[in-house]
Amino acid sequence: MDRSLHAPFPALRPRRLRQADWMRRLVRETTLTRDDLIWPIFVRDGENIAEPVSSLPGVERLSVDRAVAAAEQAAALGIPCMALFPYTPDAVKSPGAEEAWNPENLVCRATRAIKAAVPEIGILLDVALDPYNSDGHDGIVRDGKVLNDESLLALERQALAQAEAGADILGPSDMMDGRIGIIRRALEENDFPDVSIMSYSAKYASAFYGPFRDAVGSGGALTGDKKTYQMDCGNSDEAIRETAIDIAEGADMVMIKPGMPYLDVCRRVKDQFGLPTYAYQVSGEYAMIMAAGRNGWIDEEKAMLESLCAFKRAGCDGILTYFAPRVAALLAQGD
Ligand code: PBG
Repeated sequence: MDRSLHAPFPALRPRRLRQADWMRRLVRETTLTRDDLIWPIFVRDGENIAEPVSSLPGVERLSVDRAVAAAEQAAALGIPCMALFPYTPDAVKSPGAEEAWNPENLVCRATRAIKAAVPEIGILLDVALDPYNSDGHDGIVRDGKVLNDESLLALERQALAQAEAGADILGPSDMMDGRIGIIRRALEENDFPDVSIMSYSAKYASAFYGPFRDAVGSGGALTGDKKTYQMDCGNSDEAIRETAIDIAEGADMVMIKPGMPYLDVCRRVKDQFGLPTYAYQVSGEYAMIMAAGRNGWIDEEKAMLESLCAFKRAGCDGILTYFAPRVAALLAQGD
């Protein structure tokens, strides 16, 4: 080719570093590994049951024995941690959410069973009342109001029951003011100094939780919305203030939720505090990728990997994702 016809040539050619797979791998800034994954699962009563959740294709509610099998699978795949959520029978839900601190509740039983069979995997339990509350809220409701300080007392009891059952990490997801402080103090006073807290520090009132509420069976009961405690979509300075409070009260790790619509918040939180920072790729995000994939509108597997890489690029140290076993299996192939 006659180069003089095209002068001046680009002085800078970023495409040089994209010309082959080996080169792209060599210059890649962000990589996803199995160590980045936390796998949320749903636990139900009964035995040998794996019940599909229609709004979450590929996700099942597992009886405790099957949850143990899932933990064995997760450990074999190299997934470091699982998060357990209960599908609580309606009969044991109540306005006071007392089932939340029953040592025989589903997540406490599942934690003990998993810890006995697969001690090498971490267990994260959600501290919030919505799976146990007959009105579907994360705190105690009276006269249509979600009461902050009364909820704290319930959350404290729930956290202690979960620590007693053997949870390694507690994830307060309720967004009440002061919850991290009260839980941290309770853990110290009751001889659980090693239990970590991963605070859902910036949790938004989001439309993307819909399939999760189906999965735990809290959606039908929910009266109104969660906007008096979960954050407003328009705010990110507030996310910094919320996170600063949680860290001051004793959070070891922080979380942003949902994930993909809030990647800017992930980056700000990581840059500001430098703490281990996680994103929750929530049920609606998972369902969107699965639905579009199943319709043949996107390549499901590539979209899954790209979405998870984005969290790492935005500064997250890990991701809670329903894709965890699938992506871990895929990453293991590359080893
Ligand atoms: C409960 C809780 C929710 C999720 C995790 N913990 C739902 C909610 O706040 O209504 C959502 C997770 C998901 O959508 O995957 N406090």
